[in-house]
Parts: sequence; C-alpha cells; structure tokens
Amino acid sequence: MNERDYEQTVSALREDETGTGAVPSIKLNDGNMIPQIGLGVLRISDEDVEGVVTDALAAGYRHIDAAAGYNNESGVGRALATNGFNEGRARRNLWVTTKLRDSEQGYDDALRAFDRQLGLLGLDYVDMYMIHWPTPFNWRSSETWRAFERLRGEGRVRTLGVCNFLPEHLERLHDETGQWPAVNQIELHPTWQQRDVVGFCKAHDIAVEAYSPMARGADLNAGDGTVARIAQSHGVSAAQIVLRWHIENGTIIIPKSVHSFRQRENLDLFGFALTQAEHAAIDALDGPARAGHDPLTFTYA
Ligand SMILES: NC(=O)c1ccc[n+]([C@@H]2O[C@H](COP(=O)([O-])OP(=O)(O)OC[C@H]3O[C@@H](n4cnc5c(N)ncnc54)[C@H](OP(=O)(O)O)[C@@H]3O)[C@@H](O)[C@H]2O)c1
Repeated sequence: MNERDYEQTVSALREDETGTGAVPSIKLNDGNMIPQIGLGVLRISDEDVEGVVTDALAAGYRHIDAAAGYNNESGVGRALATNGFNEGRARRNLWVTTKLRDSEQGYDDALRAFDRQLGLLGLDYVDMYMIHWPTPFNWRSSETWRAFERLRGEGRVRTLGVCNFLPEHLERLHDETGQWPAVNQIELHPTWQQRDVVGFCKAHDIAVEAYSPMARGADLNAGDGTVARIAQSHGVSAAQIVLRWHIENGTIIIPKSVHSFRQRENLDLFGFALTQAEHAAIDALDGPARAGHDPLTFTYA
C-alpha cells in the first residue's frame, strides 16, 4: 500500500470508529453489510460452545462463524436462543455464517443439509451460507450453488459465499453459474498472505475473509519478535497487532478464542493504528507458512 492509500484507509477507519464505537462493517457485492470481526468456533465442543458464544455476545461480537463440520451448530443455536439473539431486533443486528459439509454438496443434498443446519441453529435464516472446500477432484460446486440460490430466493439465506477457492475455482464457478460469490473465506495471516488469491478477489469485488488470522497463534511470534516489538511500542498484545493489520487491509477476520478476556482483546482494535513502516514490516513477513490444508487436495468430508 502506498502512503496515500494507507492514510486514506486509516482515516476512513478512524471516521468509522468515532461514529459508533462499534466494529466497522464491510459492504458486500450483494449490498449486505458484514461486521468486519466475527468469532470463529472451530474446535470447540457442542457443550462448551454455548458458554463461549454467550461470552462473545456479551463482549459485543455480532458475527459468529460456524460450520456443519464443526459439529457444534446446536450449541451455537442454544447460545443464541438463551441470549435472545434468535429473533427480533437482536437477530437482525447479528450476522450468522454457517458452511455446508463437502459430503453434502450437490443440489438435493445441499437443500436437505441446510434444513437440518437451520434447525440445529434454531433460526429462520442465516446471513451467509458457504461452500466449505472446492474439492476440485469431485467438483459439485455449480449444482450446489444452484441450491444456494434457491435458498436465497426463499429468504432463508441472505449472502452466498465460498471458502478455500483459488482463482481457478472462482473462474470455474463463474463460467458455470454466471456469478461470483460475495465472500471467499481463506487461510490468511502475515506468514501466508496468498496475494494472488487476494488480488483476484479484489479485482472481482469478492470480499476476502481471513481464517486462522493469527495462524492459530503461531504468527504472534512471527519475524523473530517483529510483531512483539511493534506490540510493545503500542502497549497492546501481539494478537491485537496482527488483527489490526488485517483490519487496515480491509479484510474480514474471524479470530477464535474460548477465553472471554482474549475475545475482548481481539475486538479492541480501534484505539491505535500501525504506522506505515509497521504495517510494511508485517507485509514483509509473507512466506510459505500455511497452517491448514491445501484446497487442491483436501476435503473436510
Ligand atoms: N473455512 C475454513 O476452511 C476454515 C478453516 C480453519 C478455520 N476457520 C474459521 O476461522 C476461525 C479462526 O481460525 P483458527 O481457530 O484456525 O485460528 P486463529 O483464530 O488464528 O487462532 C486461534 C488460536 O489462537 C489463540 N488465541 C486467540 N486469541 C488470542 C489472543 N488474543 N492472544 C493469544 N492467543 C490467542 C486461541 O486460543 P484460545 O482459544 O485458548 O484463546 C487459539 O489457539 C475458526 O474458528 C473457524 O471459524 C475456517
């Protein structure tokens, strides 16, 4: 980012922040607004997730990132109901994402899976439904997409997204359906920046959502203490520095924590800004440090 772009981004964030004090939202290509920070709930048991989501709602999270494959949609649903976020105004001010299992891709299977998932979540609609992995070795994303469009037409899904799609998968989906998704959720953190995927998404007005935004914690120590030194100079944590870097890049983030003090810390990213040199120092940490799986070969069946 050059100096002018950087200043514009940071001053736009400041305006947003002084407006409501709330987390900024990103406008998607379908017109919907998604809160830029959400809570990820991967690797939390169905039993535990109820308390974790309850803490997050109390901390001010208004975006939850769930998936059929996390086996805890029912616990997420209990948390939403117990805290009054399953209907009315509270529901309208909350963004709930969930994802389809790879083994349930295809038109009929996806429709059936969605009915079950919506029942587990105890909701009338979800804000975003996503294809979890492209599984190019068993490509069914276009049929699945048609089911997703039907669900959107019925008002049971507001926004359609994909995860882990490389440019070739986005192109193929577009060739076969004439549509681009609103969001591509990909692994993205300082040591695995996937600039080719991010560049393609930006060029096609597809919002980028970073999963494992801290590389599951590994990037808090990135660059031989670079992140830690920047954190010290601002009096904030290494996690806040990495997450602030994403925010300044315009990326949607879904950090996961089961601890309420960390959840609050991960939301508290608007009382400081990186200098241009600090932002560039984190840009320079890019490398081949994938923490998760390869979309060309992986399935989360
Ligand atoms: N679409 C996909 O294929 C896909 C794949 C992977 C993940 N995801 C989504 O992305 C979400 C986040 O990714 P992730 O869980 O892999 O990684 P992450 O958010 O980068 O890191 C989570 C790890 O960092 C720790 N942590 C959180 N906040 C911290 C803080 N302030 N200070 C120090 N440590 C902190 C957590 O520990 P504690 O919980 O103990 O605090 C946890 O071990 C997932 O929950 C899921 O919703 C999607």
